[in-house]
Order: sequence, then C-alpha cells, then structure tokens
Amino acid sequence: MFITFEGPEGAGKSTAIAAIGQRLRDIGRGVLTTREPGAGEFGEHLRDILLEGSNVPPKAELLLFLADRANHVTTIIRPAIDRGDVVLCDRFADSTLVYQGFARGLDQGFIRAANEFATGGLVPDLTILFDVEPEIGLARLQTRDRFHEEPLDFHRRIRVGFLREAHAEPRRWIVLDASRPREVVIEDAVHIVMDRVQRGLAEGT
Ligand code: TYD
Repeated sequence: MFITFEGPEGAGKSTAIAAIGQRLRDIGRGVLTTREPGAGEFGEHLRDILLEGSNVPPKAELLLFLADRANHVTTIIRPAIDRGDVVLCDRFADSTLVYQGFARGLDQGFIRAANEFATGGLVPDLTILFDVEPEIGLARLQTRDRFHEEPLDFHRRIRVGFLREAHAEPRRWIVLDASRPREVVIEDAVHIVMDRVQRGLAEGT
C-alpha cells in the first residue's frame, strides 16, 4: 500500500506521518516512512540543490524534482511496496503538478506525462491533503527554505492547486482541515490510514 501526504507549507504532515508510522508498527505492519525531495544518498544531494540553490530556473527545478522522484521510486519505494511494507511518503508527484505546474506556470500536461515516466506509472492508493490557509501554515514554520520566501500569492495558488487536484480525483484523495489543533488533525489522519490499511488487509492487499 502506497500512501502520500500533500499540502502547503506548515500543514503538519511530518508529525502526522511519524504518528501513523508508529501506530502501524504497533500492530506489526512493516512500514517505510519517506519524503520528497531527498530520499537516499543521491536524493540528499538533490535536496540540497533544490532547497538551497539560488536563481534556479523553473524548468531546471522541475527536472531535478523529477530526477529525485525517479531515483526514489526505483531504489526505495518500489522495493518497499514489493516486500509488503505500507509506504508513507511526505510529498510525491502531486507536489510537482501543483508547485511547478499550477504555481510556477509550467506545462501541466507535460508534468503529468513526465511524472508517469519518472514513477513508471506508480500512483498512490491514497493521498491525504492537509489543507490550511497559507497565512496559518507559514506562521507555524520554524525553519525556512527558498520556497517559503515566495510571495503570499504563490502560496495561495498552491492551496487552490491542491484543492483542485483533490476534487478532480475524489476516490484517491481525502482532504483534512489542517487549521484545527495539531492533535485533532493527527488523530484524524491516523484514523483514516488505520481504517484503510485494515480494510486492505481484509481484502488481502
Ligand atoms: P520540505 O522542507 O520537505 O517542506 P515540507 O515540510 O513543506 O514538505 O521542502 C520541500 C519543498 O519543496 C516544499 O516547499 C515543496 C517543494 N516541492 C516542489 O516544489 N515540488 C515537488 O515536486 C516537491 C516534492 C516539493
């Protein structure tokens, strides 16, 4: 089972992923928690370039995110799915569509095709959107990278882009109101995933 977590900055995805991973381990499931950009040794290098580089042209940025994804799927995600782990991934292909496509304005048709190429057609079984207004999300951040320095309007487009994707594919996405207190959001996310995993087990996934 492959589950991804998406949303604007400061939505609380990473804390929720850690809590979900722990609950799954408690019931004896194999779990891989991972993130984009920056999984594996090669991915770590790409992450440094992507988050710290200056004056990175949007097309170069897009291709680096895709390179990171191709490496991630091939060397980390696919092997984990094949050995039966539940894979919990902090950001995936939808982030590229929304950040580089919707917000930066690069060709979305190309990005969809390139995502398919990079992932070998791997699509998450479930994607949870941590939806929060940028004013609230940005105020929660403790560290900053170059994406956080983008103007508020960029972050507003990110939010709209994610909501648009979630509405276009409602069977894959679940939208959580991440402006609520952190513990409530985490509890909701844990509940959703545990329910899905247990149903998956019953169906023999
Ligand atoms: P990260 O520190 O992992 O942020 P977060 O905790 O919000 O996930 O930084 C990842 C940044 O990279 C984030 O601002 C979103 C951006 N990003 C893209 O622009 N495109 C992508 O395809 C991915 C995976 C991330």
